Amino acid sequence: MATLNIAPPNSYALILGVSSGFGGHTAIELAKAGYHIVGVHLDRAATMPIAEATKADIERTGAKAIFFNVNAADEARRKEVIAAIQQEFASVYNEEHPPSIRVLLHSLAFGSLKMLVSENPAEMLTQKQIEMTMDVMANSLVYWVQDVFQAKLFARGARIFAMTSGGSSRVLPMYGSVSAAKAALESYIRQLALELAPWDITANSILAGVTDTAALRKIPGNDILIDNAMMRNPFHRLTTPENVAKIITLLTHEYASWINGDVIRADGGENAVDVTWWKKEA
Ligand SMILES: NC(=O)c1ccc[n+]([C@@H]2O[C@H](COP(=O)([O-])OP(=O)(O)OC[C@H]3O[C@@H](n4cnc5c(N)ncnc54)[C@H](O)[C@@H]3O)[C@@H](O)[C@H]2O)c1
Repeated sequence: MATLNIAPPNSYALILGVSSGFGGHTAIELAKAGYHIVGVHLDRAATMPIAEATKADIERTGAKAIFFNVNAADEARRKEVIAAIQQEFASVYNEEHPPSIRVLLHSLAFGSLKMLVSENPAEMLTQKQIEMTMDVMANSLVYWVQDVFQAKLFARGARIFAMTSGGSSRVLPMYGSVSAAKAALESYIRQLALELAPWDITANSILAGVTDTAALRKIPGNDILIDNAMMRNPFHRLTTPENVAKIITLLTHEYASWINGDVIRADGGENAVDVTWWKKEA
């Protein structure tokens, strides 16, 4: 299978949301391109086999897969992961190729999907749910970047990516808190792009098309989203996690170093099409 063999020795990618979906497939693709993977995920017994399969796929490429099954929004757990990365780097230190994080991907899906306002209070988002959604899906990006930067783990020229969605600028039923988190995430990415430029570190949002993952299946009315995406997408099919993983890997190439502070679509043109112009075969 063709891949871009682009990572210098001792390059690591830190993937937040590594066990499945975009995070999982990007980890595998980056491993094929020579990156070792440090991954954070949150899985219980039912979904652990998926996390284990992703880890095995990474290791099959010859790369290391160092996984942490912890809440990425928990400050104490984050500090433990950073300390473990420091330990790993000390153990593989090499003057010619000092270990460093060259890619950080934020791909966490953990939002409350309810209405902002309803006559029935049980249908309404609580303050706690909104804060949790914002924390996991947006604010955690900043805290991870801060800690990696402070610990001097980033390579010069590192790339930061965050998974956004069409919901950052459009409304969907029950998507209010996730929508707000996506808008905040894109905003954080632009700010990081500005603040990290002196270290040649870039930051971009990746806007994937509708993709059949565990997170999508949790969105109420996902069947309508899927039908709509199939109709709007110029290719009349859904985006796959592999499509997105390949685009992110492409963007780690040195030739992409001038792409910064942007929202990059990884959707086959789906979000360029506003109206449903194609009718499904009967
Ligand atoms: N699926 C789509 O159609 C689509 C489209 C555009 C953007 N996105 C975005 O892509 C991102 C990834 O979603 P996905 O579709 O790959 O979903 P997914 O459910 O397959 O993956 C989510 C990952 O996040 C991890 N995770 C969730 N909460 C966590 C927490 N608190 N701490 C640590 N790990 C946690 C899970 O363990 C898993 O590895 C999300 O931000 C989602 O909004 C999805």
